[in-house]
This record gives sequence, structure tokens and C-alpha cells, in this order.
Amino acid sequence: MHSSHSRRTPVAGAALATAALAVGLLAPTVHAAPAAPVTPTPAAASAPDIPVANVKAHLAQLQQIAKANGGNRAHGRSGYKASLDYVKGKLDAAGFTTSVQQFSSSGATGYNLIADWPGGDTSRTVMAGAHLDSVTAGPGINDNGSGSAGILETALAVSRARLKPDNHLRFAWWGAEELGMVGSRNYVNSLSTGDRSKISGYLNFDMIGSPNPGYFVYDDDPTLEKVFKDYFATLSIPTEIETEGDGRSDHAPFKNAGIPVGGLFSGADYTKTAAQAQKWGGSAGKEFDACYHSSCDTSTNIDDTALDHNSDAIAYALWQLAGGTSS
Ligand code: TRP
Ligand code: CA
Ligand code: ZN
Repeated sequence: MHSSHSRRTPVAGAALATAALAVGLLAPTVHAAPAAPVTPTPAAASAPDIPVANVKAHLAQLQQIAKANGGNRAHGRSGYKASLDYVKGKLDAAGFTTSVQQFSSSGATGYNLIADWPGGDTSRTVMAGAHLDSVTAGPGINDNGSGSAGILETALAVSRARLKPDNHLRFAWWGAEELGMVGSRNYVNSLSTGDRSKISGYLNFDMIGSPNPGYFVYDDDPTLEKVFKDYFATLSIPTEIETEGDGRSDHAPFKNAGIPVGGLFSGADYTKTAAQAQKWGGSAGKEFDACYHSSCDTSTNIDDTALDHNSDAIAYALWQLAGGTSS
């Protein structure tokens, strides 16, 4: 009975609770907010359309950074820290509270960037993350400039909307994912048990603009999965469950700590089937990203439509999960 109340719309739920109180059925304690998980709130302010041109502008900057730093943005190389400084500068100017978490891996210092949007109930924190490092072979624009730029532009949209979320929003850019999810694991390990329990959900975005794209949704937590599926249903784009490598990205440390996870993925070095090309377009028999982990993962290694839809899906999911109002 209690859980069925929490699934109603806030207005209907409140009216029902008031009515129930009036006849003495419910004690006032039923109003205590539950901890995790958060449920999507249909009454929330509607999510903005994320301008894909802005996402692409961030990718152009990351490409430029790689070019100026020996051709990559890898852990322990100057291009990584330059990437982090670029993202941090945008977030600081937009009113986020940022912090840089240092760790050591393979004899080099690594960095995570954490950005909190002030406000919202921190005991129900919704996180979105992306790894910001590339491999040493190239600039890493699809892997993972795409996810990094997608969540950056969504964070900037939160600021533009002056979102007043019910639940707290936190964004993260991870270091050293390509060395085995080192940064995200450091972050999760650095949290106390109490702080871990305040993270209601973690959404991961690793490769969201693959040049021969698929539309894959992580099938871990059903609530988080459904938010993304709902969004793609509004576009009439069929999705598939992400199977290219469960546990191959930064959601894994969160999942291992018992935190609900979700995310999007447009494909790496697996081959698109004929059936997938039929429903998504692109080339059957070709990899989703033929430049995966290669020097050709440049600004041209992006499908703009996939990048646009996935960026809009990030905003939709965060607005749904955050609740609240914007001005
Ligand atoms: N950065 C990931 C990696 O190098 C890319 C990747 C491959 C991935 N398979 C995935 C990301 C599945 C998410 C889900 O392994
Ligand atoms: Ca858009
Ligand atoms: Zn990778």
C-alpha cells in the first residue's frame, strides 16, 4: 500500500494521503521520504532539446587539445589534464561546485572531475558520468569525447534552465577508464557506506556518437532502463539491450557497490548485423566504430544524429529522475 502510493503522481498521492489521514487510516510518518531509489516524476519540468552543435563544439575543442598535446588525451599525458581543465572551466562558469579527485595509476597521477549542481536532496543523488581519457593511439573523440561532451552540454543546460531539482544532481568525468576503470573505482572506493547509499542511480555514457551507430540501452536497473526506452519510443527509434561488454565501463564499480546503474551506448568494434542496419540505417557487416581505439577516432568519427538523440536522451533522463522545476 505504501509503495503503491509512492508511484502515484505527487498531486494524486498528496490528495489521497490527505483523504486517508482525514479518516485516520494513515499515520503522519508515511510522509517520510524514502531513501533510494528515485522514481521518475511525470509532473517534472520538461527537459530541453540539447543543441547538438554545442556538443560538437566541445568535441572540436577536445580534438584541438589532442592535437596540441601529442595526438591523444590519455591518462598520464598532458592532453588528459588539458581536457579536464576545459570541462572544469565550463562548469565553474555555469555555477557548478567542482572538485578534482587525484589518484595514482601506472606511475602517473590521474584525475576525476566531480561537479555538483547546488540544491536537491543529497540523500537521493542522481549521477551521470563519462570517461574523459582516450587511449594513447588517438584523440578519442567518439571514445569517449562523445559521452564527455554529451553530459557536459546537459550540465550546462541544467544551469541555463536554473533547474531546481527535487533530487540532487552530480556529474562526473573519469580518468584512466582505459586502464581498467581506475578513476571510477577510486571514486566509489573513496565513498563511505553512507555516502554510497545516497546515490540513487548512476548513468554511464561511454561512446554515444558511433559513426555506424546502434541504439543500445543498459538493462541493469529496470527504472533507469525504462526512462531511456521511453525517450527513444517518443522518437520511434527501436533500441536493443547493451551486450557488447557488460562491465566494460565505469558503471561497473557502481554496480559492484550495489548502486543502480543505467546508460547508453552506440557500439564499438562489434559488427552491425543486417537486421540492425534495417532498423537503424548504416552499414551491415561493418563495425559500429571502425576507428575504435585507433588514430582515426577524430572529429569526423561521429554520427551527428546519434550524438544528438543520445544527448537529448541524457537530458530527458536527468530531468525525469531529478524532478523539480526550472525557470
Ligand atoms: N571504453 C569502453 C572500452 O574500451 C568501450 C566499450 C566497449 C563499452 N564495450 C562497451 C562501453 C560496452 C560500454 C558498454 O572497453
Ligand atoms: Ca538535440
Ligand atoms: Zn575505450
